[in-house]
Formats: sequence, structure tokens, C-alpha cells
Amino acid sequence: MFAQVLHVLVSLHAVVALDNGVGLYPPMGYNTWNDLGCRDMTEANVKMAADALVNTGLLKAGFEFVNLDDCWQADTRNSTTGRLEGHPERFPSGIKALADYLHENGFKFGIYTDRGTKTCAGYPGSFGHEDIDAQTFADWGVDYVKEDNCHSSTGANDLDTLFAEFGKFRDALNKTGRPIFFSVCGGGDQWPLNDIRYYATDSRGGAKLANSWRITPDVIGRLTLQDASLTNAGLADYAGPGGFNDPDMLLSSSNTSVRQLPVEWSRTQFSVWAVLMAPLLIGGPPEKLDPFDIETYTNAEVIAVNQDPLMKQGTIVEKSGIVFLPQSHVIWARNLSGGSVAMVFVNDGWATRDVTCGEKCWSALPFKKGTRLTVRDLWAHAPAEAPIAIAGTPYSVFVAGFWSIGDSRMFKLTPVSRGSERDVRDSSSVEHVISDLVI
Ligand code: GAL
Repeated sequence: MFAQVLHVLVSLHAVVALDNGVGLYPPMGYNTWNDLGCRDMTEANVKMAADALVNTGLLKAGFEFVNLDDCWQADTRNSTTGRLEGHPERFPSGIKALADYLHENGFKFGIYTDRGTKTCAGYPGSFGHEDIDAQTFADWGVDYVKEDNCHSSTGANDLDTLFAEFGKFRDALNKTGRPIFFSVCGGGDQWPLNDIRYYATDSRGGAKLANSWRITPDVIGRLTLQDASLTNAGLADYAGPGGFNDPDMLLSSSNTSVRQLPVEWSRTQFSVWAVLMAPLLIGGPPEKLDPFDIETYTNAEVIAVNQDPLMKQGTIVEKSGIVFLPQSHVIWARNLSGGSVAMVFVNDGWATRDVTCGEKCWSALPFKKGTRLTVRDLWAHAPAEAPIAIAGTPYSVFVAGFWSIGDSRMFKLTPVSRGSERDVRDSSSVEHVISDLVI
């Protein structure tokens, strides 16, 4: 019944916008690209990754999508039906069988295609085959489609063609009647640090086009990570339920990951991606992640920030210095349901130091001057060392950092209401604290 109602709603709106009823929260899952690439892209490896998501508790923590990226396809379309097929050696049981396996194990299933004649890795693209490909995906039970931007006849950045072609696939997906998360990716065929913010800002882009849209080229290390987060900070207003800015996948710190970050930065990425309301797609090998990465990705308090029902993307509330240089820092904040705020204090500089939320920072937060706030450390799962902040009064946080690595801390600030301060003070001090509450 729900599906039928959804279908009717979708058909009514199909022409004007993407309104497929999915993606109300940022998707969480695993994507094969940074891990398996093309070389290791096989049915057996995808199943192994999925089984590991179950065994490590990642599925339970919310990582429900298993998304095939490029290189799942056969070299050519089926010559009789014209449909895409799985690569016969890599996926000998076929894509539908894999989709069924994943669904049976509690996952949602994602797949990849391209708006051009070929995918970025050279497999058949969806250009001119939008309807049949969307239908094939729907028939297989696909829940998520990533559409890439390679091999278009007019190049990667001809906006009229780009939005028209991505729009064709959006409409084709809508026509199938199956709710499918639609993710457009214009990043991989760009030079690192290229400006592709138009995916969010153009009147034909953003939530009109897709459920998520890449806002920078691929995140492959610290510089591109920095670029994606700073770019995303300026795009907060374009995101909302059903449509998210996509700053690309999570880079793990395990030395088994093809793309690896220092532990400080891998965890910082997770914290900042939570504030940015970004899709959380693990790019490391689930079966070989070390305990630190598992701990990072299963932090329920940070995930709750990412998935917060207020659905407001966060941004930068204070920034000083130039990133990578000594003394630079960035403070991020996101308003949460219930009047709390999540904050990430990033030390981008060379040395261990205090990072302070000062006048500018407080003025960007939604608290009346003088409001008392409990401060909870979301990585320590405990009150912060300074467990009370007073809105408007400088609040300093010690953030480690050595050489150019830097580090970050993440907190949740909640206005004190009667009784709530008991969480952070021992009982002997509660009375005193409550007596000078600002209500
Ligand atoms: C890039 C894209 C990557 C991955 C790759 C596959 O364009 O940004 O995320 O999908 O193509 O070939």
C-alpha cells in the first residue's frame, strides 16, 4: 500500500523534482571503490565485506548500504535485451543473486553507472539507455544508484547537458516506481580542488536533481579532505531531508586501507562529516579494519549527530589562520533537535594547544548570552573536562596535535534544565549549580 501511495506521489512530481520519498536521513554504508577498485571487484569480495559489516557490528550501527562502484559490469550490454549485466567472471552468480544475498542479510543494495557512453573505468555507460537501465536496477531490487560523469560527448562541465542527462536518469528512476536513492557524482573526472559547487547551487541541481550530489573532486588524502570539508561548509543551506551535499567517502586509518589517513584525521573526518550531515560511506576494507576504526565508525553518539532529525547541516562558526599553518583552527557546529548543538574543535596547526570558542563563535550559536550548557565529550562518552559552558564566555578546549597532524575534539552542548546538570556534577555540587541557573 505504502509503495502504491509512494508511486502515485512520485509520478505526480516526477517532472519537476526528485521526490522519491527516500534519503530522508544521510545514507550510511560501504562503497567498494576505495577498497576493491577494479582489480579486486568480485562477488566473493563484496560478500566478504558485507559479512564483515555484520560481524563487526557496523550493520547494526547503521551502515546498511552495500554499494557496488565501477567495474561490476560486463564489457558489453546483452546483445539480445540491450540490458546491462554483471561481469561474468567477477560476478558469476549475477547481480540479482548478490542483491538477494544482501537483502536477506539485512542490507540495502547500491549500484553504479555513468551518464556518458562509458563509465570512468570504461564499462558501458547509461547514455541513451536511461529507461532500460533504471528498470534493470529496479528489477534487481537496487536501493541506491550512483551516477558518474565520465565520457559525456560535451565534456564533464557543460552544465546544460550535464543537468539534462542526470535529469533523464532521475526521471527514469522515478518512472520505475521503486524508491531508489539517487546520488550524482561529478567529482572523479575533475582535477583535485576544482570548483564544482554548481551541483548544489545551480537551480537545476541540489535536491531537485538527486538525493546527494558530490561537491568536490575525490577525497584521496588530507588536502582533498580539507578542501571537501571547507567547500561543504559554504553549502549548508542546500541540504535537507532527502537531499545531501556529498563530500565523498570516509577514509580509514587502518594500514589495510588502500587510501589511508592518520588516526587523528580519520576520526576528525567522521566527526566533521557528522556535523556536515554527510553520507557516511566507509571506503576501507570492513573485514580488515583495525579496532580503532571500528570504534570510530560505531560511535553511536556521533552517528546520532549525523542522523539528527532536525536535519540541519552544520557549518563553520569560527576559523582562524590558514589551514596547515601553525595556530590555525576551525570550529564546526550543527544545531540539533531538542536545542542542543554538536561542535567539533579542530586544531589544524603544528602544536598541541587550546582552541577557544570566542565571541564570534558564540554569536553564531543559537544560545542566549549567559545560558548555562552542559558539555559532553562525544568521543570520551563523558562530560568534558570543563563540563559547563556559559554562552558568550570564552570556552577553551585542549586539542592535541603534533607536527602538522593536528587533531580534533567533538562535543554536544545542551542548555541546562532542572535536573540535567546532575549528569555532569556530583551530587554535592548540584544544589549550588541549580541555584544560579539562567532559565
Ligand atoms: C570517479 C568517482 C569515484 C569512482 C570512480 C569509478 O569518477 O569520483 O568515486 O566512482 O569514478 O571509476
